[in-house]
Amino acid sequence: MAARKPLIAGNWKMYGRRAALAEAVALEAAAGEALGRVEALICPPAVYLAAAAQALSGHAVSVGAQDCSPNAEDAARTGEVSAAMLADAGAAYVIVGHSERRAFHQESNDLVRQKAEAAQAAGLAPIVCVGETEAERNAGEAASVVAAQVRASTPAQARGLVVAYEPVWAIGGNRTPTLDEIREIHAVVRAELAGRYGQDAESVRVLYGGSVNPKNAGDIFGIEGVDGALVGRASLKAADFAAIIKAHPAAL
Ligand code: PGA
Repeated sequence: MAARKPLIAGNWKMYGRRAALAEAVALEAAAGEALGRVEALICPPAVYLAAAAQALSGHAVSVGAQDCSPNAEDAARTGEVSAAMLADAGAAYVIVGHSERRAFHQESNDLVRQKAEAAQAAGLAPIVCVGETEAERNAGEAASVVAAQVRASTPAQARGLVVAYEPVWAIGGNRTPTLDEIREIHAVVRAELAGRYGQDAESVRVLYGGSVNPKNAGDIFGIEGVDGALVGRASLKAADFAAIIKAHPAAL
């Protein structure tokens, strides 16, 4: 089996302006040769996707979106952006089911699965996010909640699929699970994927996300079953994001 290429994805959320694209461009020089060994991805707000794709053309950094419509076909859906449009604008990936969308936009597992399948239909690789809340972890339900999310929000086919395990309570703060806790949930995700896709699950990368920074990235990347990271705040500055990319053992 070919090893899965590590993926380190930056989720800019609703931050940055056009001028911030200079940080994405600066990443190439800051991360240097690590970029050939580790795949780097920037997901800016949708309105900047085309400019980001243009600025990064010829660079070893890919561009992705943060959400897409569940409608694969063009339709009267005011305010929505289809996966085909994101692909047309230069995206290669799209994040779906981020916990902020699940929480603030009431996105269900079923809707997230439809978005992932629409992404695949447009040739995009979906990054499906899963993760337990603090209350669920405290109740001892982290593994069962994440397993259920993987079963219900991943697409029917494994094609291009990436899963990001992001404990909701670890996002945007300063807390991360212990290395053992991350290892345990990644094993749960892997087992679910194997049950769902059989052999095809081997190609699915499973990322960790939630307060990844230049200091903790090396330890997190060393955990068995972690194929990279989904990074929020620390992806906004080229120096920080490059330090995370270079912290991956495959980058050395
Ligand atoms: P954070 O965000 O790195 O700022 O915690 C991660 C995410 O929400 O993807």
